[in-house]
Amino acid sequence: MSRSGGKQRSRPLRSLVVAGARPNFMKVAPLLRRMHAREDFEPILVHTGQHYDAVMSDGFFRDLGIPEPEFNLGVGSGSHAEQTGQVLIKIEQLILRQAPDLILVVGDVNSTLAATLAAVKLNVPVAHVEAGLRSGDRQMPEEINRIMTDSVSTWLFVTEEAGRINLLNEGVPESKIHFVGNVMIDTLLDHLERARSLDNILEPLQVTPGAYAVLTLHRPSNVDDPDRLKALFAALEELHQEVPIVFPIHPRTQAAIETQLGGASPKLQLSPPLGYLEFLRLMADARLVLTDSGGIQEETTVLGVPCLTLRENTERPVTLEEGTNTMAGSNPEVVKQCFRDVIAHGGKQGKAPPLWDGRAADRILDILAGQPWGAS
Ligand code: UD1
Repeated sequence: MSRSGGKQRSRPLRSLVVAGARPNFMKVAPLLRRMHAREDFEPILVHTGQHYDAVMSDGFFRDLGIPEPEFNLGVGSGSHAEQTGQVLIKIEQLILRQAPDLILVVGDVNSTLAATLAAVKLNVPVAHVEAGLRSGDRQMPEEINRIMTDSVSTWLFVTEEAGRINLLNEGVPESKIHFVGNVMIDTLLDHLERARSLDNILEPLQVTPGAYAVLTLHRPSNVDDPDRLKALFAALEELHQEVPIVFPIHPRTQAAIETQLGGASPKLQLSPPLGYLEFLRLMADARLVLTDSGGIQEETTVLGVPCLTLRENTERPVTLEEGTNTMAGSNPEVVKQCFRDVIAHGGKQGKAPPLWDGRAADRILDILAGQPWGAS
């Protein structure tokens, strides 16, 4: 019997793998690596160009050993409609030319939704990796992308039980849902040793292991309102006097500092965006992490580093229930209290959630290969 459990295919599955923005790159990396190691997949990597700066894109390809994309759509920045529309138009042409058996999308960025829409209208089945996550907050652009992508995908690969329940509640048949673990954690476990062996990461930032915090902030809800941003920065500056806070600044946040705050950067330990390995090392050695990112809530849980999420909700509840994550919200007084509490008492210990074991990509590929593809 073939690996697919069905008829032997005479050719591998042509799989268009789509990546567009920074958090996509660590999710496609293990899928591509494992596809290249097997004979039943023929991956074709498409970079939509949603993120294009060296620090937001190229460096990640290098750090993660992702091969040069076969295609780059070069869409760049723009409004949601412009960005989504550009990917939609350009990837449709590519799908027509490449005639893939399936398209594989990850996460919840605009590129994820656009690629999905183009594919389903051409009757190409979509595999959505990291399906089912819901924050319940439809003001978040990602929440719209998640709901729309999941509603038309053929295979929904979920990272945690909440994802499965959300999809069932939306009427998705159980047969489409596969609980496989977390590809982002595959990447973390693939690279942790290398990150730990990097020299000269903490010294230039003037911090020592276990004695600093790391901050990331880029969500529109936090950075687009100048009053909110100013109040948050004031609280963080106060905390920085107690425990140094390293703040690698996302380009969207840098732009907000320029336009909303007249260029008045917060008095924290500032840094440009870091590469994957450098940032992983920075998190692994931190006393705590403050973030509004989704992926970082998951990574800190596996690293066992306390995380304060600077949002009112999370689409990743397992990190609260089983991991090291605490919802601190964005009220500066509450953030200060949570921060000081972690410093005084150590913060949540937590443990890795089920199946966050480094094997999610293998499970996904086994499931896809095992579908009744016919023998073409
Ligand atoms: C996008 C994703 C978000 C993800 C984040 C991670 C959507 C809706 N949002 O948000 O889910 O958490 O990526 O980074 O898809 N910019 C640059 N250089 C770049 C890319 C962006 O300078 O390489 C600047 C531009 O000013 C751009 C702004 O950042 O307008 C926002 O970029 P965009 O891709 O639209 O959204 P992000 O905020 O990065």
